[in-house]
Amino acid sequence: MKFNKLNIVYTLVVSIVLFSCKKETIIATTALPDSDFNKGWLFQKDSIPNAEAVNFDDSTWENVTLPHDWSIEGPFDNKYNARTGGLPVHGIGWYRKHFSVGNDQKGKQISIEFDGAMSNSKVYLNGKYIGERPYGYIGFEFDLTKHINFGGDNVIAVRLAPEDLSMRWYAGAGIYRNVRLKMNNSVHIPQWGTYITTPKVENGNADVNIETTIKNSSDHPAETILETIIKDENGTTVASKTSKVLMEANSEKVISEMAQISNVTLWDINASYLYTAHSSIKMDNTIVDEYQTPFGVRTIAFNKTDGFLLNGKQVKFNGVCMHHDLGPLGAAVNYRATERQMQIMQSMGVNALRTSHNPPSPEMLEVCDKLGIVVIDEAFDEWKIGKVPNGYHKYFDDWHEKDLRDMIKRDRNHPSVIMWSIGNEILEQGRKDGWKLTKHLNDICHDQDNTRPTTVGFNYYPAPFVNKLAYHVDIVGMNYWPTTYSKIVEENPDMIVYGSETSSQTSSRGVYHLPIEFREKHETNHVSSYDVTVGPPWAYAPDIEFDALEKSPNALGEFIWTGFDYLGEPTPYGGRDNSTNGYWNDDWPSHASYFAPVDLCGFPKDRYYLYQSQWTTEPMVHVLPHWNWDDMKGKTIPVYSYTNCDEVELFVNGKSFGKKVKGKDFTEIPSEYHEFEKGMYKTKYRLSWNVPYQPGAIKVVAFKDGKEVVSKEIKTAGEPAQIKLEADRTSITADGKDLSFITVSVLDKDGNICPKADNLINFKIEGAGALAAVGNGDQASLASFRKPENKAFSGKCLLVVKSSEAAGSINIIASSDNLADASIAIATK
Ligand code: GAL
Repeated sequence: MKFNKLNIVYTLVVSIVLFSCKKETIIATTALPDSDFNKGWLFQKDSIPNAEAVNFDDSTWENVTLPHDWSIEGPFDNKYNARTGGLPVHGIGWYRKHFSVGNDQKGKQISIEFDGAMSNSKVYLNGKYIGERPYGYIGFEFDLTKHINFGGDNVIAVRLAPEDLSMRWYAGAGIYRNVRLKMNNSVHIPQWGTYITTPKVENGNADVNIETTIKNSSDHPAETILETIIKDENGTTVASKTSKVLMEANSEKVISEMAQISNVTLWDINASYLYTAHSSIKMDNTIVDEYQTPFGVRTIAFNKTDGFLLNGKQVKFNGVCMHHDLGPLGAAVNYRATERQMQIMQSMGVNALRTSHNPPSPEMLEVCDKLGIVVIDEAFDEWKIGKVPNGYHKYFDDWHEKDLRDMIKRDRNHPSVIMWSIGNEILEQGRKDGWKLTKHLNDICHDQDNTRPTTVGFNYYPAPFVNKLAYHVDIVGMNYWPTTYSKIVEENPDMIVYGSETSSQTSSRGVYHLPIEFREKHETNHVSSYDVTVGPPWAYAPDIEFDALEKSPNALGEFIWTGFDYLGEPTPYGGRDNSTNGYWNDDWPSHASYFAPVDLCGFPKDRYYLYQSQWTTEPMVHVLPHWNWDDMKGKTIPVYSYTNCDEVELFVNGKSFGKKVKGKDFTEIPSEYHEFEKGMYKTKYRLSWNVPYQPGAIKVVAFKDGKEVVSKEIKTAGEPAQIKLEADRTSITADGKDLSFITVSVLDKDGNICPKADNLINFKIEGAGALAAVGNGDQASLASFRKPENKAFSGKCLLVVKSSEAAGSINIIASSDNLADASIAIATK
């Protein structure tokens, strides 16, 4: 489809290659020697000479199952950079795995596929160098056939060498994504070998274009039949195509087939629907390869007046940027942890994700496909000019084209993916010739997939316009310039703009400092949850973005920085110089980010409810702060309430302090945003009262059309007396991967949460599972994520347990000095 900047219409269907990746069943031949190639690896973190050698003695190495992140084990130490989490994310690490391949596999094409390895990987088979891949976020595959020892033992060795000062956040370290061994017949569909689009979706019918790559790695020509069957979610066949394909010896061919689905069910936000294309290749009536590609049917369009249209309906981005780590679980990918993150985001009202600032895990796109969340898939944080001394700029010249094309090939079938982002805050913005590289990367994207627009998150103004970079992407993202949206569109009538990064407000869950401050406190390493513009110099309260978007109806919406707190970048603590090659440890022990409305463990901070009040319609009301202020009796406390209803009435110990009307009553908050004068900012998104403190209870009651619809009450808690355990799921799968997330709360004798409790809780975990992680969301806690104990922070901590492969029950007892024990059982099936 041709590009038309003014009205870019993409109709497209998409497939999901990743979790589909290659089906490992090979019908015509024997099964794989190891059905889960993630198991049985050996690991050693050290610079070891000749560790790739066949006869190398690895008998003392640690046994690990992939995905594996060696750095999350810790310990935290201020000899490591706080900016990358205060954890050992750099150094050399080796992995080895022994496996055998039978003689009966001769003639197969054998390859190894990594979804990502952090980073600077070098792969060896039986002592021979196979290949390397510097970028830790990209998936890659190497052909091993030439060096496989058929009928005997094989050893694969992987050397990783993540460098210090190579990231601006915690990247993790190790083979942190899934790995699989593929044994293909010589005629097969190679990695990312399908590309599914829907050039026409009309009147309930969809034309589905399926491009299938077939490879013949043998020295003989082959007569093959490609059969593509499209099935709906019930497994019913809705379309099929058959093509005869003559494959030359040692050749690759792309076959295009056009199928029709009638009465098509569209993929949509919060309403996912996935079809699956089942491709098979037959030779002499025998299936020699099978490949499955889940995909969705939806149309996307971007235009100046309507903004972003999904299936013809306007959608505003209520988006979040997310780094890839899973908090206390580290960077090792886990499907359930990823799904939980995005479910929590959806409950806040999120409908869009920007995978800042790198290709996400395949699991993240699978989750977004399934939940119905649209995605900006981002490739790079650096181009040729570095932000950190050992950043991607060192590899850009040699690798950018392959990395970018591979990201698109891997992700182009996902219905969730709606834009390709070629960069975040790239420093080329400041260069007169910066547009050349922008154009080059933009052209690569269009060449690889012309069904989605490109974008960049720019953070300078007006540099990318003066230097013309902004004219060489399809959609312009602005980081932290909400007041420019209208101006940009007025000055550039063809331009479509959105907030690719917004707010960067910071806070610590459940912490309130009075009087309300708008500068971080350096005595505490905690930021107050009144949420008034504490952050880096470019930060501003969420309210300012809400306001700017209301005033700029053409803007597509926003992506807040960030959805979840992440490891590393503990702004506003630590250094602020992006070009520093020194350590960011001025405010140790802060080592995790404070930016998000949800903490590292997934517990909502107050700001979560501020977003919910803008982004959701199910009636809600929230009140802050907590109501335990022993030293404030009779003194004034500001009480804030967030609601999506019309008005809220506040009661303190049963006495009404009056109703406030949303949109009419304002709250004055201190503001320091760089675009505004320092001073007070009047927000209509928060309701507030000043009330004298007396212990007891505060209650907010929200009204809609004059009727009471929802309320929330917080009581003054007594002394900590008991522990409460609540699992997100009490029944999980017995597959050695599934997780249960257990919220641990410290309560008084009457069951009220103790908002300042920091009791140390010990966990005894027995039965069909084990500890996966603990955490409490305190960005300055140095407690290990891997010990069966943790201190509560603002009354709460998190325990994560993982199933084993044997079904049964995981039995957990939580205990603490002076508190009554609590127990919970998680069934595994
Ligand atoms: C942006 C940057 C993000 C993060 C954020 C913190 O400038 O793109 O990666 O550093 O600032 O406010």
